[in-house]
Amino acid sequence: MERRADSVRHMHAFGPSAVDIASGVLAQGWREGEWDGRRYAYTEPSPGRYPWQWYWDSCFAAIVRRRFDPAKARAELESLLAVQRPDGFVGHTIFWRQPVSWTRLAFYNVTSRRSLQTETIQPPLLAWAWKIAVGDPAREPRIAAQAEWLLANRDLEGDGLLWIVQPDESGLDASPKFEPLWGRRSVGRLGFPLLVARNRCLGWNARRIRDRGEPVLCETVVNTLWSLSLQALGRPSATPALVERLWDEDRGLFLDEAMPGARQLGVVTWSSLAPLALPDLPAAIGRRLIEEHLLNPSEFLTAVAPPSVAASEPGYEPDGGHGPIRRYWRGPTWVNSAWLVWLGMRRLGYEAEAKRLADGLIGAVEREGLREYYDPRTGKGLGAKDFAWSALIAELADPDPKALNSYL
Ligand code: GLC
Repeated sequence: MERRADSVRHMHAFGPSAVDIASGVLAQGWREGEWDGRRYAYTEPSPGRYPWQWYWDSCFAAIVRRRFDPAKARAELESLLAVQRPDGFVGHTIFWRQPVSWTRLAFYNVTSRRSLQTETIQPPLLAWAWKIAVGDPAREPRIAAQAEWLLANRDLEGDGLLWIVQPDESGLDASPKFEPLWGRRSVGRLGFPLLVARNRCLGWNARRIRDRGEPVLCETVVNTLWSLSLQALGRPSATPALVERLWDEDRGLFLDEAMPGARQLGVVTWSSLAPLALPDLPAAIGRRLIEEHLLNPSEFLTAVAPPSVAASEPGYEPDGGHGPIRRYWRGPTWVNSAWLVWLGMRRLGYEAEAKRLADGLIGAVEREGLREYYDPRTGKGLGAKDFAWSALIAELADPDPKALNSYL
């Protein structure tokens, strides 16, 4: 036994570091060319599995790529802007290089097979990513135009927070937190194509959807990344409104609010902790999130943390689940979530705990490579291989003090 442990240690010491693994995957996933008369340049989220450009995947990939190749990081973000509509909208998935396949049509929010992008959004972190990877987003009018579209179309209550019309707009597709609201029409359930079809009829227009009594959601991750973007743009922060609407003082957690009925959705997932990434989150709230939840062994303190769903939830599936339909965000640990909560741990002075969290994931990456997600108990790699945004591990393994100052 002892000999084996030694040889494992030896292998780690001389295997590629997490930063080398990250740069290798980003290099391998790079795609550029021309399609439909426009230039594109982006990182394929996972070669083969996800061929197109995804909005938030690209933002995360560009954040890390700035370390190795800042010009390409900028090109990746500009590629999102290359499909921007005149009204400012930028979609969730952009179909460069090949149109959406017939088999995926029922699951993708497009008006037709010829669509260049979906009609749905993903968490709007472009301005923040631009600030980290490129420079001042306020100097790029197209970024401000996207913010204007979001405010005009998704700020349903006039308090500056955004509402989503489908679970996948949060990037957290099949999280169990959505099931009390969307039920059998949730992502990963057989009825999901019915939700897509219904929203297609309503033009994915959030006000029309709400007015028909269909579900809409004020979601925590979307609004956390939105607040970071507003601050990057030098605009008033959405953090006070986020606290006002979604902070649950009794439970010490952020919980999404749903309409109809102004209902709070109570399933505890990592998104309840995501506001830790906000530099202007009141420190007392941040400390409760960390001490009562992130460092709680029955919820989020697993060997490789934070699991995407609290271990105390009945719906927790740490091994990624079973069955023919792949269902994401139901327990395994994702690197982007780890990075976002780690930012808060660093900011609030939980240095040892932040290091423990980083070391858990760094070890998993050095053993398993960049996978889409990891078993929170063992670090076993799961889901897609060579998954680009897991390159964020470089931010944990080799924190960049200059960047850290700009995002804390
Ligand atoms: C899955 C994830 C989503 C991601 C996409 C591409 O749908 O849930 O967050 O953007 O894959 O990687």
